[in-house]
This record gives sequence, C-alpha cells and structure tokens, in this order.
Amino acid sequence: MQQAGKSNALLCNIFLIGFMGTGKSTVAKALKKETGAEIIEMDQLIAQRENLSIPKIFEEKGEAYFRNVETELLMELQSGEKTIVSCGGGVPMREKNVLEMKKSGKVVLLTALPETILERVRDNEDRPLLQNRKSVEGIRELMEQRREKYEAAADVMVATDGKSAETIAREILQTIR
Ligand code: S3P
Repeated sequence: MQQAGKSNALLCNIFLIGFMGTGKSTVAKALKKETGAEIIEMDQLIAQRENLSIPKIFEEKGEAYFRNVETELLMELQSGEKTIVSCGGGVPMREKNVLEMKKSGKVVLLTALPETILERVRDNEDRPLLQNRKSVEGIRELMEQRREKYEAAADVMVATDGKSAETIAREILQTIR
C-alpha cells in the first residue's frame, strides 16, 4: 500500500542485491520512505515461513534447500504490487533468479569495500557463510568469487561506502526513473 502523501510509487519492483553487509535492508527502508512502496525482506520472510532462523535452515535443511526456497519466493514476486525487494546475498548466483528479477523489475547492486563489510558484520551471528570468514581477506575472497555474477545481474551499481542510506536511495531512484 502507498503511504499518504507519497506520489512517486514504483513502476516496477526494485531488487536490491549485493554481498552480505552492503546495506540492502537499510537502503530498502530509505527507499520505502522515498516512495511509500512496501519492502519484502527475503531472508526474514523465508525464516518466518520456515519457522526457523537462517542459520538453522542451513544447519537442519541444508544450503541447497534454502537456495530453492529463495528461487520459489522470487517466482512468487512476479505478481502483486510493486515492491522493494531486499534479496539475500546469494540470490544473483543462480541464473534462474536473475531471469526472474529481470522479468518484473530493476536490479540494483550495492557494493562496499571488504573493510566496510567487516565493520558491519563483525558482531553478527546470523550469516552462516561468514562464520569462518570474519576477516578482510576472507570477505574479499568470497566477494571476488561472486563479483562477475553480481555485476552481470545488475542494471545499476551503487557504491555505498561513506554514504547515508538516504543518499543511496535517492541515487537509485534518480537512475532508474
Ligand atoms: C547469504 C546472504 C544472507 C542469507 C544467507 C546467505 C549469501 O543474506 O541469505 O545467509 O549467500 O550471501 P544477507 O545478504 O541479507 O546477509
């Protein structure tokens, strides 16, 4: 539902992609303020539906199961109102996911330096793939493995280091409108 007083609702979905800790959830909130559009937080919705935390889904059901649930959710998002979708960091790694996103929206890649990411994720225990990578080198290595697919999926790329969420949100809207 659109917020009162907002006349700039979305014409297509906005999919925020990027490595863990690039600020997708925070930027999604700033985009909501600017547009009045609702947010879909993929991880949160999956955890709610599965009634398990993300680490527990990985542990009890396995990563492959989680990846299939992500794809199914993206397919669901084809119908319904236009929203801001804060994607899990692994979403662009699967080609089918990228095709689904492109069908209904713009894909916005948020980037950050490994040093910035480490600061943001240091005290967080909710990301199974970072449990043994809490160092600049560990983060850089996984980021480099993913870079090509992230960049290939993106319609727009925004560097987030040193910028406020509001500035990033406005930058995104100026570019995609
Ligand atoms: C993952 C990123 C996480 C979450 C899961 C896997 C990834 O989401 O989906 O832990 O493979 O990069 P965030 O990017 O929101 O942390």
